[in-house]
Amino acid sequence: MCGIVAYLGNREAYPILIEGLRKLEYRGYDSAGVALMQGNTIQMYKKKGRVDELDSYCASKDRHGNAGIAHTRWATHGEPNEENAHPHVSEDGTIALIHNGIIENYLSLKKGLLAEGVTFKSETDTEVLVHLIRRVQEKEQVSLPDAVMLALSMVEGTYALAILSVDDPDQLVVAKKGSPLLIGTEGNEFFVASDGAPIVGFTQDVVYLDDGDVGVLRLGQPIKIKNINDEQHLLKRPSFHKLELTLEQLEKGGFDTFMLKEIFEQPKAVRDSMRGRINLKKDVVSLGGIIEYEQKMLNAKRFIIVACGTSWHAGLVAEYIFESLVRVPVEVEYASEFRYRNPIIHEDDVLIAISQSGETADTLAAVEIGKKHGATVIGICNVVGSTLARETMAGSYTHAGPEIGVASTKAFTAQVTVLALMALSLAKKKGTISKSEYHKLISDLETIPEKISQVLEQEQHIQRIAQYVATRPNALFLGRGVNYPVALEGALKLKEISYIHAEGYPAAEIKHGPIALVDNTMPVIVIATEQETYDKVVSNVQEIIARKGTIISVVTEGDTAVKKMSKFCIEIPKTEELLTPLVASVPLQLLAYHVAVIRDCDVDKPRNLAKSVSVE
Ligand code: F6R
Repeated sequence: MCGIVAYLGNREAYPILIEGLRKLEYRGYDSAGVALMQGNTIQMYKKKGRVDELDSYCASKDRHGNAGIAHTRWATHGEPNEENAHPHVSEDGTIALIHNGIIENYLSLKKGLLAEGVTFKSETDTEVLVHLIRRVQEKEQVSLPDAVMLALSMVEGTYALAILSVDDPDQLVVAKKGSPLLIGTEGNEFFVASDGAPIVGFTQDVVYLDDGDVGVLRLGQPIKIKNINDEQHLLKRPSFHKLELTLEQLEKGGFDTFMLKEIFEQPKAVRDSMRGRINLKKDVVSLGGIIEYEQKMLNAKRFIIVACGTSWHAGLVAEYIFESLVRVPVEVEYASEFRYRNPIIHEDDVLIAISQSGETADTLAAVEIGKKHGATVIGICNVVGSTLARETMAGSYTHAGPEIGVASTKAFTAQVTVLALMALSLAKKKGTISKSEYHKLISDLETIPEKISQVLEQEQHIQRIAQYVATRPNALFLGRGVNYPVALEGALKLKEISYIHAEGYPAAEIKHGPIALVDNTMPVIVIATEQETYDKVVSNVQEIIARKGTIISVVTEGDTAVKKMSKFCIEIPKTEELLTPLVASVPLQLLAYHVAVIRDCDVDKPRNLAKSVSVE
């Protein structure tokens, strides 16, 4: 949700900022803007639409300057237009600011500023920050960093900020609370961004700001950080980390889109998420990141899984795997609901938060609630160094590599892999799984990358099915047991990138209402792989056929019953029932992808969405 980039050094800032914005565009893409320090004035350019539009607009403009800030927006307050695009400047034009997050008390702050005679140009919450900081600076006669510290102590909400001031052109002030912000340094240069993507081409050495940190970057000086929650405002020692990212990972690598690249990366992503964690010869699964809290997990009376969107679907799959193998109750919660419903949490609960980005605001809030109630809080995330990774007590990275397409694909299969490993390791130690079952499952896990590759070979066949689905206004996705979350995920993928209305249901549930929608225009995508309830699914398929629905099925190789009843059928390799989602979700990703391409949709940047939902 909004990407921010800033630069201070001795090179031209503009090319670094605009390239940085391109790399962050997945975080929001309804408007973009840049401000450059030119001598003692701030030059600002903003445009509605994508970063390319901003760049074309700037082509004829003066773009020089060795310091600058830039922003790509996902609108929260105020429609996407140039007035609401960032940067925002103070009335006298001396301060420019970019912001990712939400200022929750902006209305009361705005009221106060209006009463003091401040004129607002936009409808955004952000604009209050720039006026507030300027007012504090004027009233208190303090430096910009001190004014920022004072102003932020009046602010409720979340922010990642970068601020330029004409009073000190060799300085950049940054601040963070609840939204991510990194500072990279190399020699006499500073690179600031919402994530590592804009920085990695320049340096691997980064500092992740903590909540409440205000950083001052000055040419020729080391980074200075203070925290607004420290009453004495003592200087903190910046802690440097290595970026685990390569430039190659941020490119499309010959694919038309990031999403297709990421779908095809799944054999590797799943393999990487298992690397070093399974020893087939010794029949051992171990996840290094959770060892310290393993005993707590073994003693858990309940697992509470919190997540959003696709990660929530991975949590639902985990519910089946954990309950079946570990024999401990599991509750899977939308983080956004969990955080506001005064949940009952005990100290012997283990809360597992799942997030690709590690920056989803609701998931992070659920983590805080878990910690407050004394639960053991474990994270599963993809982005190294993300807030989730730092705010949980222990956890496991999925190691899927950067996911840039807005629709999540490889992160899902990697999450399910890690959750399956976690369940297997706990089940073995608790003695809730037989030796043979354990061996069968880890042996099957090892073959999943190869099975996914076999599904990917069917791309052309799936493309033909997509031709049919692309002409339909609606679609139903059905599955039972562990395939029910697969149905939900298939429907989510289709609706979010092709804008076809789609619903996922447990197959038996449709009799309780949704079957009323079925007629000869309705494609019904059924996941009917080999599973305990296969015969029941066959009956559900018959009920749909009786109402003239069109069946598109995902079945196990060699299937006859469902295949015979299907207009289109996708066969996937035989997989252990609990691990089926790892393979069965892949054809549905390809189906959604090709439907979206046929319908001429922007697959990597679907309308109204953004990748990292760092606001509520
Ligand atoms: C759907 C999708 C979203 C995310 C959700 C959570 O394709 O990508 O539903 O899964 O916004 O994001 P993370 O996993 O980053 O917490």
